[in-house]
Amino acid sequence: MSPVRRSRFVGCGAYLPARVVTNAELAERVDTSNEWIVERTGILERHIAADGEKTSDLAIAAARPALAAAGLGANDLDLIIVATATPDETFPATATVVQAGLGMTRGAAFDVQAVCSGFIYGLTVADNFIRAGSAETVLVIGAETFSRILDWQDRTTCVLFGDGAGAVVLKASEGQGGLDDRGILRTCLHSDGRQHDALYVDGGPSSTQTTGHLRMNGREVFRHAVVNLGDVIKEALEGAGITAADVDWIVPHQANQRILEGTARRLGIAPGKVISTIARHANTSAASVPLALAEAVGDGRIKPGQLLLMEAMGGGFTWGSCLARW
Ligand code: ACO
Repeated sequence: MSPVRRSRFVGCGAYLPARVVTNAELAERVDTSNEWIVERTGILERHIAADGEKTSDLAIAAARPALAAAGLGANDLDLIIVATATPDETFPATATVVQAGLGMTRGAAFDVQAVCSGFIYGLTVADNFIRAGSAETVLVIGAETFSRILDWQDRTTCVLFGDGAGAVVLKASEGQGGLDDRGILRTCLHSDGRQHDALYVDGGPSSTQTTGHLRMNGREVFRHAVVNLGDVIKEALEGAGITAADVDWIVPHQANQRILEGTARRLGIAPGKVISTIARHANTSAASVPLALAEAVGDGRIKPGQLLLMEAMGGGFTWGSCLARW
């Protein structure tokens, strides 16, 4: 093995808006029930951004503790990547708003758009910048205010999502090129644009000149999610020459407790190894993986040196996985 550049995790942070909306509260607005939502999804409640609270506000609030944990200031960063499908504005990129908000006056900032897979895409882009030698230190944020694009009359979608943000700081470090190295070890990305109609927003600047609302064929998404996520986990494991038993934690996109369980069952992964925050966060799209990560790091479950497998799937479809040693 020869020395290689690795993207090592040196800090993480999270932010959830103060307001909690329970299933019972939703049942007052649409024809649903706590029982239906819990049984079909595992969701008990979600956080919803306050009036005027923007995706960039959530992103900055998650970035600050991530930078503090890394012992770094904003001007130590070379790059900020914000994964979001709910930007503050059509342009400029929310990442540039975050850059200014953090007081970073150098480097570059841009958004990536892969909906629920956005954080995995963001990690992959950051890792490539670091391994290519184009950046030393990168802040990757998943931040969403999905409450702004939900049709609150549509019970089949409005009960599933929440708002939030999570962030990690990656720093270049030298590894030996093996699986014992700390940092990102392998990433796998996929998309299939033919699946547009299963999950999309029915508006946008060049189509309707409106923001639009989320539309979803839930059964279709569910069916593809279990297969695609299973395949992309296998791809990461087989590529690394390991099995699910070698992984300490699966940190999945939090779409639905049944998807989490179905995927784990298909791969023979013990349920106790799967980090789940779906009950309290619901689906926060690109924010869900870093939110779950920050929670499990914060409560001491994820420890330095442990092997993690992150995965996600979202609109497009897009899907991906990231094998990393914390
Ligand atoms: N409350 C009560 N009843 C409801 C609700 C609700 N909120 N929503 C739908 N129903 C009804 C339907 O109208 C239907 O009634 P019918 O049988 O009289 O027609 C019945 O419940 C069953 O509906 P299904 O859609 O078949 O329910 P299903 O068991 O598939 O669960 C769900 C729906 C939860 C959306 C599921 O399909 C799912 O989770 N899919 C994945 C979607 C997802 O996670 N999307 C997130 C974005 S992509 C991602 O993150 C991976």
